[in-house]
Amino acid sequence: MKIIGLIASPHKEGNTAWIVNKILEGAKEQGAETTAWYFSELDIKPCRGCLGCHKGDRGCVINDDMQKLYAAIEQADAIVLGSPIYMGQMSGQAKIFTDRLFAVISPRFSPHFKEKAAKKKLVLVFNQGNPDSSMFQTYIDYTKHIFEMLEFDVKEVSVITGMRNEPAHERKDLDNALKAVGSSLVSEFRNHSRNNKVESS
Ligand SMILES: Cc1cc2nc3c(=O)[nH]c(=O)nc-3n(C[C@H](O)[C@H](O)[C@H](O)COP(=O)(O)O)c2cc1C
Repeated sequence: MKIIGLIASPHKEGNTAWIVNKILEGAKEQGAETTAWYFSELDIKPCRGCLGCHKGDRGCVINDDMQKLYAAIEQADAIVLGSPIYMGQMSGQAKIFTDRLFAVISPRFSPHFKEKAAKKKLVLVFNQGNPDSSMFQTYIDYTKHIFEMLEFDVKEVSVITGMRNEPAHERKDLDNALKAVGSSLVSEFRNHSRNNKVESS
């Protein structure tokens, strides 16, 4: 099983990176092949809205690092998208990434990709300074809904709170809880593959 972690934070060693890497660690311990992508190191430009991705089969016409992510997403069985909460929403980096998914979810562009995307599992993991977990719940629920509309199989939405009081790496409670998210992704994938084999035999 291939899992990619997308760290949509400006900080390579910040809370989001630590959190996503913990989930990947849990998955890796169960045998998954994991890769982390740091948006702080990637050049991902905003969608131009040119609809170039609808014309022909060359995909998004912007030649930047999103092309690497399109390829990584296509190969992945599951995606862990981590974002800090900025001004009550996902980071700008995460939003630009989400807009650029337009090129690969369009059925006119690629029905084949859409079919595969439908099977991709997604974990959304947010973190915020504020300790109140209900603070942005409406937005979190809405964002989950958007990714479901984009045909992702949203397995888990976590919101890690209170980062302003204690950074993620100092939080003893997070270690096992986050690793469990990664390991359950792998066990669910295995069970699903096993059931599919039984059904088709
Ligand atoms: C520009 C900016 C806006 C933020 N807005 C919020 C917010 O609306 N609510 C909140 O609880 N935390 C907010 N935070 C705090 C971050 O969500 C928090 O520090 C997070 O852990 C940062 O993750 P990182 O280390 O990956 O950058 C904000 C931080 C910044 C820099």
